Amino acid sequence: MEKNGNILITGAAGFIGFFLAKRLLEEGFFVVGIDNMNAYYDVGLKEERLSELLGQEAFRFERADIADAGAVREIFQRVRPRIVVNLAAQAGVRYSITNPDSYITSNIVGFYNILEACRHSCDGAAKVEHLIYASSSSVYGQNRKVPYSTQDRVDNPVSLYAATKKSNELMAHAYSKLYDIPVTGLRFFTVYGPLGRPDMAYFGFTQKMVRQEPIQLFNYGDMYRDFTYIDDIVTGIRKVMENAPGPNGDGVRYRLYNIGSSSPVNLLHFVEVLENCLMKAGVIDRPAQKEYLPMQPGDVYQTFADVTDLERDFGFCPSTPLEKGLEQFAEWYAAYYADRGRK
Ligand SMILES: NC(=O)c1ccc[n+]([C@@H]2O[C@H](COP(=O)([O-])OP(=O)(O)OC[C@H]3O[C@@H](n4cnc5c(N)ncnc54)[C@H](O)[C@@H]3O)[C@@H](O)[C@H]2O)c1
Repeated sequence: MEKNGNILITGAAGFIGFFLAKRLLEEGFFVVGIDNMNAYYDVGLKEERLSELLGQEAFRFERADIADAGAVREIFQRVRPRIVVNLAAQAGVRYSITNPDSYITSNIVGFYNILEACRHSCDGAAKVEHLIYASSSSVYGQNRKVPYSTQDRVDNPVSLYAATKKSNELMAHAYSKLYDIPVTGLRFFTVYGPLGRPDMAYFGFTQKMVRQEPIQLFNYGDMYRDFTYIDDIVTGIRKVMENAPGPNGDGVRYRLYNIGSSSPVNLLHFVEVLENCLMKAGVIDRPAQKEYLPMQPGDVYQTFADVTDLERDFGFCPSTPLEKGLEQFAEWYAAYYADRGRK
C-alpha cells in the first residue's frame, strides 16, 4: 500500500482505533485521527491512548464530533484522506436502553456525515479510495444458526445499537452504489486486550475481582463467545486496507465481512484463564467469587463468526491464543492501575 496521502481514522482515541493508528504509524503512514473524547467510559483511558499517538510526528489529531457535518466536511477538505476507517460510534448494548439519543447521533447522523464527506471527495482531485467501517456481531441478534455467516438474514435486531449498525450497512451499500465509493464493512465480534474497554464483560469481571465482589455468570456459565485479540483485529483491518473491493456480482464496489476468531470459548473457561492471568500478574490474590444465574432475557447462548470469506480474500488467520491475549491484558492492567494507585 502506498505510504503517501493521509489515512483518516475516526474514533482514534478508542480501543481499536488507537491500536490501528499505532500500527499504521509504525509502518510509516500519515494518520489523522478524529475523536470527540466523550465520557461514555473513563476519559483517562482515551487520553492515555491519545498521548501515545500525539508523540509521533506523522500523527495529527482533530477533536471533533462526526455528528457535526460542518466539522467533518472541513476536516475532509483540509486532510483529503485517501483511506477512511470509521470506528467512531456509540458502542454498548445495554447503554442504548437509557441513552438512545447518542446512538442515533453518533451512529446514524455521524456515519451519514462520513458517507457524505466521502461522496463529495469525489468532486475534487482527492477522491477517497476506500472507506472501511465498523459493524458488529450484534446485528445477528438471536440468530440460532452457527457459525454466523454474512449470508444469514439479520433483519431482527434486538437492541437499538444493533439496529444502528445494520442501518450503517444499508447506508454504506447505497452510497457505494450511488457514488461508486469502494466500501468494506467489518462485523467485529468481541475484541479484547490491553487498554481495552471498561464497559466490556472481561474488564468488568476484572474490576469486580479486584474489589472482591462476586461476578455474575448467566446461564450458569454455559455460554460461548467468539473473542478476538486486538492485534489479530488490527492485522485483519490492515489486510483489508490493502485492497479496495472491485465490483461484486451486482456491480457495486461493496463488501461485508465477519472479523472474529471463529473459535468460541466457554465462559467458565474464559473466567478461569482470566483469573489465572490476573493472579500471575499480581492483580488479584485469590479466585473470583462467582454467582451462577439463569439466562437473562435478550442474551444469546453463543456467538461464532464464520470468517471463511476474510480468510479466502485476505488470508486472515487470527493466531493469538486466549492464554496469551489475557496475559497481555492482565500485565497491562497491573501496570496501568498500579501507576495510578486506583483499581
Ligand atoms: N470492541 C469490540 O468488541 C467491538 C465489537 C463490535 C463492534 N465494535 C465497533 O468497533 C468500533 C470501535 O470500537 P471500540 O471497541 O474501539 O470502541 P471505543 O468506544 O473504544 O471507540 C470509539 C471511539 O469513538 C469515539 N466517538 C464516539 N462517538 C463519536 C462521535 N460522535 N464523534 C467522534 N468520536 C466519537 C469515542 O470517544 C471512542 O474513543 C465501534 O464502531 C464499535 O461499535 C467493537
